[in-house]
Amino acid sequence: MIESSQQQAVDAAITSRRSIRAFLPKPVAREDIEAILAVAARAPSGTNTQPWKVTVLTGAAKDRLADAIGAVHADPAAAAQHVEEYAYYPREWCSPYIDRRRKVGWDLYALLGLGRDNKAGMAAQHGRNYRFFDAPVGLIFTIDRIMEQGSWLDYGMFLQNIMVAARGRGLDTCPQAAFTQYHRIISAELGLPSEQMVVCGMALGYADPDKIENTLVTAREPVAGFARFIE
Ligand SMILES: Cc1cc2nc3c(=O)[nH]c(=O)nc-3n(C[C@H](O)[C@H](O)[C@H](O)COP(=O)(O)O)c2cc1C
Repeated sequence: MIESSQQQAVDAAITSRRSIRAFLPKPVAREDIEAILAVAARAPSGTNTQPWKVTVLTGAAKDRLADAIGAVHADPAAAAQHVEEYAYYPREWCSPYIDRRRKVGWDLYALLGLGRDNKAGMAAQHGRNYRFFDAPVGLIFTIDRIMEQGSWLDYGMFLQNIMVAARGRGLDTCPQAAFTQYHRIISAELGLPSEQMVVCGMALGYADPDKIENTLVTAREPVAGFARFIE
């Protein structure tokens, strides 16, 4: 029987997680990062394969990666030479997914005062991904490319554990698929072995409470919209 205080703590850690896109310059202690990763690694994985590998970037190493990607990202012709290695999103969008995708995008841009014709402003906001939204810690996640779909399922649980364990310590995160486009730059900068494939990045740090983008609260379908009960 779960005590109600334990239930409240777990539920609060899960429901207080939001994607945070502006961070304070306050550093995160290395022992906190290690503790979060150790907790997260308790994620289940099929036959305990533990398919996750993470590179933790802080300080100059984080800046070097951000600069390397930023230089390419700023040049559309150069950026067009970089494509993601795996499809995160459907190749053909349909409702309701496209509607939800559009809503979160427009809601974020509206908060930031970016009108729908402000392509430059939106591109600049997207570009902030590559500086980990100024978080003091940038995480790059990789997986052995021989691993199959099931291991990616395991990986998601590991990622979610990181984000929830971070909440337990007053820290915030933003998972970032944006990095997948620049996997070649990441592999070169981080000296990743060729069998490792970039899954995503993640910003980790203390949320800046004064930044308007951090007030974004995204919608969710009610349970009745995605679950059915059969007796
Ligand atoms: C694997 C993954 C990759 C994501 N990639 C990005 C990203 O590159 N940039 C970004 O700003 N948000 C990214 N997001 C955040 C989603 O937009 C966000 O989770 C969704 O809109 C729901 O909002 P919430 O996280 O605040 O609940 C990503 C989320 C996940 C799970």
